Amino acid sequence: MLLFLKEDLSMQPSITLNNGVSMPQFGLGVWQAQDGEEVETAVTTAIDAGYRLIDTAAVYGNERGVGRAIARSKVPREELFITTKVWNADQGYDQTLAAFDKSMQRLGLNYLDLYLIHWPVPAKDTYLDSWRALEKLYAEGKVRAIGVSNFLPEHLERVLNEATIVPAVNQIELHPRFAQKNLREFCKSRHIAVESYSPLGGSGGDLLSEPLLQQIGDKYGKSAAQVILRWHIQHGLIVIPKSVTPARIQQNIDIFGFALSDGDMMSIDALNTNSRVGSDPKTANFT
Ligand SMILES: NC(=O)c1ccc[n+]([C@@H]2O[C@H](COP(=O)([O-])OP(=O)(O)OC[C@H]3O[C@@H](n4cnc5c(N)ncnc54)[C@H](OP(=O)(O)O)[C@@H]3O)[C@@H](O)[C@H]2O)c1
Repeated sequence: MLLFLKEDLSMQPSITLNNGVSMPQFGLGVWQAQDGEEVETAVTTAIDAGYRLIDTAAVYGNERGVGRAIARSKVPREELFITTKVWNADQGYDQTLAAFDKSMQRLGLNYLDLYLIHWPVPAKDTYLDSWRALEKLYAEGKVRAIGVSNFLPEHLERVLNEATIVPAVNQIELHPRFAQKNLREFCKSRHIAVESYSPLGGSGGDLLSEPLLQQIGDKYGKSAAQVILRWHIQHGLIVIPKSVTPARIQQNIDIFGFALSDGDMMSIDALNTNSRVGSDPKTANFT
């Protein structure tokens, strides 16, 4: 007799970070969600649908709306996992500490789950100072885990060589067309969890209309988006698709009742063309 996996959102997996903190493997990204009603509705819809991880950033300009949705939610604070990021213009030790306080005020939180350095900005050469500020916030218990975003091995090596705490997470662009095999291997060898951003190929991309993903989805009765998100989960990645569309928010979390076969995983792996949709951290110097 065939046994089918029951659709059960309680089966949502978690990742244990290198400091022992448990982080949901799946969550909502809110870049480009407008502050106010749009982001509040998205976060509320997500939490109601079972999301527990929310990914924002100071530069997204929507921390207030995210905070209002959290405050309104009936889910206890300790069951949620909230990430925000220090923006490039606020790099430096004192600047990062001040930026953290402002983010916390906007979010209306008294502790954060994960604080990330948004970009390395090598031309500024201040990410080590920011990292020391994150270490202080962590030591003071204001944040449960600290990490980085858009860091290449050369940036991580400097942090590992000169700092005390190993980043818990590196949040990077990652999707079937930009699979980041080398960076994933590097992070794995240093016990740094990898979090995929633009996991569906980003808002301007055409990954979702890739025929292979639709064909695979038809086999499982799932959409191309659900197939891609399942690919991230089965690769052990943390994944934060963005949507402000309630039906999509609900669809995107409905991925824990099926599993892609090894063959389908390999076919999706073969879509990799090392093509970014976002900026290259080597040269991205925007402030
Ligand atoms: N650290 C960084 O530098 C960085 C950079 C980029 C992103 N991120 C984070 O990663 C999150 C996700 O990345 P992203 O926003 O670039 O792109 P993404 O999640 O790959 O794609 C978002 C786009 O896909 C659409 N979409 C979502 N679910 C869909 C579905 N089921 N079917 C069809 N379309 C769907 C969304 O439209 P609607 O919203 O209109 O539904 C939106 O246009 C961001 O929100 C942010 O939190 C971080």
